[in-house]
Amino acid sequence: MDDPGNLLTPNDFRKAARQALERSAYDYFISGSDAQKLKRRNRAAWDALEIRHRVLVDVSKVDTSTELLGLKLPFPAMIAPMAYQRLAHPVGELATARASAASGVPLVVSTMANVALEEIAGVKRAPLWFQLYCHRDREITKDLIQRAEAAGYRALVVTVDAPVLGRRLADERNAFDLPKGLTRANLDRYAGSGSVASDGSELAELFRTRQDASLTWDDIDWIRSLTKLPVLLKGIVRGDDAKRAADAGCAGVIVSNHGGRQLDASIASARALPEVVAGVEDRIPVLVDGGIEWGADILRALALGAKAVLIGRPILWGLAVAGEAGVRRVLEIYQEDFTRATQLAGCASITDIDSDLL
Ligand code: GLV
Repeated sequence: MDDPGNLLTPNDFRKAARQALERSAYDYFISGSDAQKLKRRNRAAWDALEIRHRVLVDVSKVDTSTELLGLKLPFPAMIAPMAYQRLAHPVGELATARASAASGVPLVVSTMANVALEEIAGVKRAPLWFQLYCHRDREITKDLIQRAEAAGYRALVVTVDAPVLGRRLADERNAFDLPKGLTRANLDRYAGSGSVASDGSELAELFRTRQDASLTWDDIDWIRSLTKLPVLLKGIVRGDDAKRAADAGCAGVIVSNHGGRQLDASIASARALPEVVAGVEDRIPVLVDGGIEWGADILRALALGAKAVLIGRPILWGLAVAGEAGVRRVLEIYQEDFTRATQLAGCASITDIDSDLL
């Protein structure tokens, strides 16, 4: 295995992870849906944003920290919710949570984690939010929300772009399933929530049979009525939906196309972000994910009005390469890269990053 110290970029980690992972696990993590064009368009849309950098500004000291819904972020980034992390490393979500605690970068724990949310919450000082998939069985959904609140999670992130699962062709071809010994640990306690039979992707079949494709705005009210936690919606790409989320009392929205894993024809995150920012009119924070690969992408997202970004797949690459240490290193790379980009753009503080840079 490569020494993680020699890996300099998220893409270096991806290449090393590809060597470390089972083929079907790598395919599951890396895949977009259908023709996988949106993944490329997500990247291209960030690249298209050119920064008009300022010069002769004293950037010898840069403060990259920020605050989000009561959490202090060392730089404007969080770890995106991602399923099945024990496919990447035996310690799975616990290693990611330890890296989150060590770095201070908050982690959004997936409903589909391989480690139970209570066990993850046992990692001291890990700043945690919980990602919720709404189950057809509302008692399960309600219980998950109450468990997350009781375990000390600080916010609930409801994924709203997955009424059905996008078609991931590699998973169908690989008949992707969880290997023996791994479970969807948050769901283990509920009767009838084990694996489902499928010739293709077990996850796709699971969504077809257990997830709720009938979810509407009324259900968001219902979810909010069950918890004191702030509720954010993830998967918003339109100004009208963003406005509706703010009107409905949501605490934030996450501009996301699920890393290009749902509707391949959907709009690139960077192109959707301005409309969403305009839609919420500063009432609630806007976060964004999808193809954030460089520190400069975080700068670009903030210049468009985002409060923070979520980093997805590169975290899994770090986890696959070196467990907790790998995730820590990936986070350090992002923080260093963002700090440098901020200095090079002529900003001494993240409050200096605004639309004037574009
Ligand atoms: C699960 O949320 C996935 O996108 O695979």
